[in-house]
Amino acid sequence: MNTKKQIIEALERNKGGYISGESLANELNVSRTAVWKTIKSLIGDGYRITSVRNKEYCLTAQNDVVSVRGITKYLDEINRDLQILAYPVLDSTNAEAKKLGESDTPESLVIAASQTGGRGRKGRTFFSPDGTGIYMSLLLRPSFCQATEATRFTTMAAVAVCRAIESLCNKKAEIKWVNDVFVDKLKVCGILTEAAMNMENGLIDYAVAGIGINVYKPRKGFPKELKNIAGAIFNEEADDLRNRLIAEVVNRFFELYRSQDTSYVSEYRKRSMVIGKKINVVGLSEQRRATALDIDDDCRLIVRYENGETATLSSGEISVRL
Ligand code: BTN
Repeated sequence: MNTKKQIIEALERNKGGYISGESLANELNVSRTAVWKTIKSLIGDGYRITSVRNKEYCLTAQNDVVSVRGITKYLDEINRDLQILAYPVLDSTNAEAKKLGESDTPESLVIAASQTGGRGRKGRTFFSPDGTGIYMSLLLRPSFCQATEATRFTTMAAVAVCRAIESLCNKKAEIKWVNDVFVDKLKVCGILTEAAMNMENGLIDYAVAGIGINVYKPRKGFPKELKNIAGAIFNEEADDLRNRLIAEVVNRFFELYRSQDTSYVSEYRKRSMVIGKKINVVGLSEQRRATALDIDDDCRLIVRYENGETATLSSGEISVRL
């Protein structure tokens, strides 16, 4: 274990209390200067460490730094073997997970504290600032899954995120078909599933379920174009909240993924914020006004256009008309 990890462990054991640089140096058999430099680097990583005269250090009770150790603590026993790869910054966790998908890497979770090229649906970017969000991708290797079933992972992830949010706060989480989660009428989570298909048998080789969650308001606020659309789940930082939320999403997702049971679809339907609403179905060159009638057992959206025609949409984009 490197010095940084050892110091985090020692500080966590004493969370809320002071520990002297000298005793850390003795315990880890390093110099006091090395302890001080490591503490400075940990503060740079986002850990809230207070110090007294540069001699005694305290990891404050309110710390919310995403880490492999922090997430593992909250994982169900059955998920403890999941490989977790955490990075301070990545271009995109989906891109990284897809790279791993091409190798013989087993099912894994890829996390980044921030993304420089976070990807959204339809070629859009996903705003991914440091310190306030969750950017995670699950690399999945489903057995015998038809490529056409890949949207299942998006809908399972949406239900898992809603359950995870509701287990940590008493706010209601709703789903805007097909991949967005809303709290208090604002988008707090987007999901992007990508899959690679084996052309010979039409089965999925691997899939990547990418989940981006706005946990807290970004420190510099949301960019202008997102101001009226995006929201955050929590107003104040709480201890280990992002680690807990990530672990909850993983726990809830794998419950659904392993069970291969499609009864979650009724929950997906109940959480829908579009059924019965007037919507616009966004096409390549035009938008069509419609009413969202229902969501079928394959999570497809059934709509009725203004001319009375009905259609079943398996993917695409809609906006709710106010
Ligand atoms: C959307 O709202 O259009 C989907 C956004 C998906 C964003 C997540 S963040 C983690 C993962 N990595 C990415 O590059 N995108 C997904």
